[in-house]
Amino acid sequence: MANAPTFSVTTPIFYVNDAPHIGHAYTEVAVDVLARWNRQCGVETWSLTGTDEHGQKILRTAVANDVTPKEWADKLVADAWIPLLQTIDIANDDFIRTTEERHESVVQAFLQKLYDDDYIYFGEYEGYYCVGCEEYKQTDDLLLGSGEFEGQYVCPIHGRPVEVLKEANYFFRMSAFGERLLELYESQPDFIQPDSLRNEIVSFVRRGLDDLSISRQSFDWGVRVPWDDKHVFYVWFDALINYISALGWRADEPGELFQKFWPSNHIVGKDIARFHAVIWPAMLMAAGLPTPRRVFGHGWLLVGGEKMSKSKLTGIAPAQITDVFGSDAFRYYFLRAISFGQDGSFSWEDLAARYQAELANGFGNLASRVVAMVGRYCDGRLPAAGKLDEADARIQQVVEAAVERATAAMERFAIHEAIAAIWTIVDELNGYLTEQEPWKVAKDESRTERLHTILATAAEGLRALSVLLAPVMPQSTGLLWTALGAEAAIGPLAEQRIDRVAEWGQLPAGAEMSTLPPLFPRIEAEQLG
Ligand code: ME8
Ligand code: MG
Repeated sequence: MANAPTFSVTTPIFYVNDAPHIGHAYTEVAVDVLARWNRQCGVETWSLTGTDEHGQKILRTAVANDVTPKEWADKLVADAWIPLLQTIDIANDDFIRTTEERHESVVQAFLQKLYDDDYIYFGEYEGYYCVGCEEYKQTDDLLLGSGEFEGQYVCPIHGRPVEVLKEANYFFRMSAFGERLLELYESQPDFIQPDSLRNEIVSFVRRGLDDLSISRQSFDWGVRVPWDDKHVFYVWFDALINYISALGWRADEPGELFQKFWPSNHIVGKDIARFHAVIWPAMLMAAGLPTPRRVFGHGWLLVGGEKMSKSKLTGIAPAQITDVFGSDAFRYYFLRAISFGQDGSFSWEDLAARYQAELANGFGNLASRVVAMVGRYCDGRLPAAGKLDEADARIQQVVEAAVERATAAMERFAIHEAIAAIWTIVDELNGYLTEQEPWKVAKDESRTERLHTILATAAEGLRALSVLLAPVMPQSTGLLWTALGAEAAIGPLAEQRIDRVAEWGQLPAGAEMSTLPPLFPRIEAEQLG
C-alpha cells in the first residue's frame, strides 16, 4: 500500500546573536500558514523551527557581553525566541536548538559517515570571510568599501568589511556534486522557487563549485569533529543538519519521523538560499539521503530600501505590532501585502490602512452584521434556507472557485494569491448584503422565507470563510466559529477540511448563534505611539 501523503515544512534556524525582528517573524508566519493549511487539507503535517547557536558570530556576541556562549544562547532562547512563537501564534511541532545533544550527536554521525566515505579531506584555505553571514566570499560577491571602509571589501548583506582568514581545515568535496545538482534542478523544476532565484542558483552552480572548508581550529564554540578533537565543525554544516536531526535520523536507523516526513520543504529568506539549494543537497547526496522536497526563498522586508537586520539594528520587534493590531492582523498583513517571493517595505501607514479597510470594514464588519441580524430577526437561531435565487447560487459558485484557486496557489506557496482568492468571498458577501438588503426584507412579513434564505446563505459563506482563513487568522476565525454556533453544531474549527469546505449547507438550521465581539477593534491614533 502506498504511504499516505505527508507535508513537512521548516523555517531556518535563527542565530541567537540578538532578539527576533519582524523579518524572522515573517518566515515563521509563512511556514505556520502552510502547515495549518495542509493540516486542514487532511494531510499529515509536521513543522519545525529552532535556533542556530554555534559559530563565531554568537561567540563574539557572548564575549562582548561577558558571558559564556551557552549562557547567552540560553537566555536569548528563553527570553526572546520561544516567546516569539506565542506572540505571533505559531503552532510548530518541534523546536530544535543546535546545542542539544540530540542534534550534536547526529551532526557527528553524519559527518563521520562522509569522512569514512572519503568526501572529506584535510587542506588549506585562504579567503575573505563575513562573520555576519558566517561564509567565505568570492570577490565577485563583495562590494568595494567607501568612507570609513575605503580600500576594504564589504559584505553587501551586512554592510561591514570582510576578514581575511587563512586556515588548515577539513574540506568537503562539494566540487564533485556540480553535475548532480544541475540534474536535480533540471529534473525537479520546482526544487528552487521562485524562478528568479532558481535561475540565479543554476548559473552559480554552472560556474563550477569549490570544495568547502567545514571545520575550524581557531575557536571551539561548535560541534567537535569526532576524528580530530582540535577542530569544531563550521557552523553552517552543523546548522543545516538540524532538518534531519529533529526528525530523529540516525546513521544506522533512519527513524520513524524521518521516514514519514523527509524530504521537507524549506522556507528561507533569499539571503540563505544558496546554502539550502546547493550545499545542503550536496551534503545529502554524499550521505546517500534524499534531497529536500523544495527550497523556497522569500524576499526581504526592507527598511529605507535595505534589508532589515539584527546586525544593523534596524529591526522592529514583532510585539510592537501585535500589541496594537493583534497577532491575526500581523499574520494577515505580511502575507497579503507582500507577494511571497518578492521584497516588501513595511510601513505603519500601510498596515493601519489595510487593517481598517480589509479587516475591520471588510471581514469584521461582514461577520458582525450577519451574526447580529440572525440575533435580531431570528432569535439567534440559524433559519433554514428556502428556494434559492440566482444571487444565492452565485455565492456558492464564488466559494467553489475561491477554494479551487486558493488550493492551487498554496500548492505553489503563493500565499498572497491564496489569500486574495479567499478574499473574493468577503467582497462578494458584502456586495450580496448590500444588494439583497435583508434589513428591508425583514420589514415585510410576506417575505420571511426570502429573509431566511439570505441569512442562511450569508452564514454559510461565513462558515466557509472561517475555515479558509483559519490558517492565516486562527484567533478571529475561532471567535467567529463559536459565534456562528458552528463549534457546537459541527465541531472544532481546526478539524474542518478545506477540501470539503465548498459543500454547501453544513451549518444546520437551528444552530445557535451568540454575540460576536468586534474582531478587529478600532485603533486610536495614540495607540500607534
Ligand atoms: O541565516 N526580511 O540565521 P539568521 C525577511 N542561522 N526575512 C528576514 C529578514 C528580512 N529583513 N531578516 C531575517 C541564519 N529574515 C542561519 C540560518 S538555517 C540552517 C541557518 C529571516 O538569524 C529570513 O528567513 O540570520 C532569513 O533567511 C533568516 O531570517 C536569517 O536568519
Ligand atoms: Mg542573517
